[in-house]
Amino acid sequence: MKYDFTTVLDRMGNDAIAVEFPTSPRGFQPEGTKDGYSIIPMWVADMNFMTAPSIVEAIQKRAAHASFGYFSPREEYYDAIISWQKRRYHVDITREVIGYENGVLGALSSALAAFTEPGEKVFLHGPSYIGFLHTLESMNRPTSVSDLVLDDQGILRMDFDDIEKHFEEDQIRFAIFCSPHNPAGRVWERWEIEKFVELCLKHNVIIFSDEIWCDLVLNGYQHIPTHSVSEEAKKITITAYAPTKTFSLAGLVGSYHVIFNEELRDKVRKVSSATHYNGMNVLSQHALIGAYSKEGEEWLDELRQVLTENVDYACDYISRYEGIEFVKPQGTYMLYLDCTKFLEARGTDIEKMLKYGWERGVIWQDGRPFGKENSIRINLGLPLWQIKEAIARLEKKD
Ligand SMILES: Cc1ncc(COP(=O)(O)O)c(C=O)c1O
Repeated sequence: MKYDFTTVLDRMGNDAIAVEFPTSPRGFQPEGTKDGYSIIPMWVADMNFMTAPSIVEAIQKRAAHASFGYFSPREEYYDAIISWQKRRYHVDITREVIGYENGVLGALSSALAAFTEPGEKVFLHGPSYIGFLHTLESMNRPTSVSDLVLDDQGILRMDFDDIEKHFEEDQIRFAIFCSPHNPAGRVWERWEIEKFVELCLKHNVIIFSDEIWCDLVLNGYQHIPTHSVSEEAKKITITAYAPTKTFSLAGLVGSYHVIFNEELRDKVRKVSSATHYNGMNVLSQHALIGAYSKEGEEWLDELRQVLTENVDYACDYISRYEGIEFVKPQGTYMLYLDCTKFLEARGTDIEKMLKYGWERGVIWQDGRPFGKENSIRINLGLPLWQIKEAIARLEKKD
């Protein structure tokens, strides 16, 4: 490997909730780790790797110019996005369809405010990323949730009949589509996206396609942007992207939307610009340019190889444990475990299991707020040696 995916920086005291404030806002309340255990962060969705050197260089170069006054995004920023989308996803986009967003959830909030009313139900799949649930709750948009279902090949699929039932019964006008899906790790196939889009067209539903995880598909899979499946799809889709998840840049902030339909675009931008809060940071602009460079792309492809190996390793390992059920992720670095049978067989409960890990510095995440009882979400975006260390600590009887 050309890039370093084994060194772990000391993130303590360096602005990282992953190791500094491992708390859970809902569900399991940790009591801390036992003495002598370092923290292995396997919860919040950022990675325990150094980011791509091209990003650090781009930021350092700009920071060396000691002036940070008002600015407008440069052409290079838009060119980097246009080229990235073409290289990675084979789509042609133009500058006017791209709009800066402080965050994907910020983009979602603006879109919700533009197209739905307080009290109106919003569709999404279950299990659901907690950020969606919090945003909907704080904006007083109740949820209409259709659960993903296992098919006879063991793949989690959308249940199209159930989706249509939700659309009709809840008079849905707005759907959140997470692609790839967090926490299920699904990379949707073209026919699945097409079918979902068809249903949305039939019922006049606007799609908010959250594609923040699109760069992190594992080997053998290809992400397909929702808007790219047809000309009709372009008309009803608001897509959100970011380099933040891919390159661990969340602390720098900086996402963007792609909206082809001018009417949808204008409405979203009207809401997001009204508060004057949605403004780009000059260093995050340069971070994106560094991320979407040739070197950034090379780094990403090595990262995908590392994540694929991590997921293979963890899944092989965990499948030895009877009663822990999961579906192997095709994308993301998240693993969502259903521990119901495992806990029943041992006469214990999820709180105790979570605590067992936390006490040993294995900071895994309570999966219940994502929608499933007795579940744990595990972040595998860290060096393989740390995953092995986490397993060793969990296995040690002390
Ligand atoms: C599916 C999904 N959307 C959005 C976000 C957060 O995006 P942002 O920080 O840009 O609001 C996350 C973070 O984990 C995520 O998993």
